[in-house]
Amino acid sequence: VLLVLGAGGFVGRHVTALARSAGLRVLGAARAAAAPPRGWPGLDLAAGPAAALEGALRAVAPDVVVNCVGATGGDQRRLVAANVVAVSQLLRAMAQAVPKARLVHIGSAAEYGLVEAGARVQESAAPCPVGAYGVTKLAGTQLVLAARADGLDAVVLRVFNLIGPGTPASTLPGRLVRDLRQAQAAGGRVTTGPLTAFRDFVDVRDVAGAVLAAAAVGVGVPEVLNIGSGRATQLAELASSLAAISGAAGVVDAASQGNGSPRSAGVPWQQADISRAAAALGWSPATGLRESLRDMWDAAG
Ligand SMILES: NC(=O)c1ccc[n+]([C@@H]2O[C@H](COP(=O)([O-])OP(=O)(O)OC[C@H]3O[C@@H](n4cnc5c(N)ncnc54)[C@H](OP(=O)(O)O)[C@@H]3O)[C@@H](O)[C@H]2O)c1
Repeated sequence: VLLVLGAGGFVGRHVTALARSAGLRVLGAARAAAAPPRGWPGLDLAAGPAAALEGALRAVAPDVVVNCVGATGGDQRRLVAANVVAVSQLLRAMAQAVPKARLVHIGSAAEYGLVEAGARVQESAAPCPVGAYGVTKLAGTQLVLAARADGLDAVVLRVFNLIGPGTPASTLPGRLVRDLRQAQAAGGRVTTGPLTAFRDFVDVRDVAGAVLAAAAVGVGVPEVLNIGSGRATQLAELASSLAAISGAAGVVDAASQGNGSPRSAGVPWQQADISRAAAALGWSPATGLRESLRDMWDAAG
């Protein structure tokens, strides 16, 4: 059984859907008690009690747990609860209840923070996150790596900037799609912060593929794997591509100054070196940037 925690979220939905379509036995677990799937009670991983999570894990007896629980925004309390406390509780419960299960944990490129401009960042780079999101994601990863050193079969997928169907408006690509669709319907222009930074955009469906590959690969998988496209794209190019897809090229006004996303303010460059994931998982991204953006646009209609 593949147990997907955070199955109602953006990444969790795609992982669950791909696992189902691949014919795997999958249980998508949500936090809300209102509509838990059969076999999962609905649990807030950051709130305990520990015995409830242990009991639920024992009942499901997963071979693999995929942790898609997390917070990408909100205040520091929320970030710490979802990205650190929930991870700590999960690790403790797995050690007690399902010590042989593999954990595939979703980390983030924000853990790296400032990296060398123009270069692909490798997993061996010293992480130096710049904001609360990256700090809490790094803390979660460090907890997973400590549990791995204690014997847990765990791997962290360090996921770069997500695009593709269902990308939430809390990200720049998701917000651009929403605002361009509004501009298309009601007229007007779309304004953004500065679009000079470069990011590595990866399709969420490719990330789901990497998760399933990490779930299936034999023991001895490296502890951290970058999951990105391997390309750096300037935000301005992303915006003009989306504007062109919307049929309203030239409608985006980018500020010349400002901070951009609080998740990565002050980070001008990110590009993943994905050779380790290719070697360890036989994985590489299959969806081109234009295809991802087109599918993202269509899915929002
Ligand atoms: N989105 C990106 O661009 C991006 C990029 C790189 C890495 N990531 C990482 O990918 C992971 C998933 O992100 P996402 O974009 O899918 O976020 P999301 O759409 O907000 O989903 C997060 C999920 O976590 C659940 N959750 C949060 N706190 C919880 C708790 N205390 N107990 C149980 N469930 C809890 C949420 O449940 P509710 O629905 O009940 O709130 C939701 O289902 C995160 O670790 C994030 O850091 C995301």
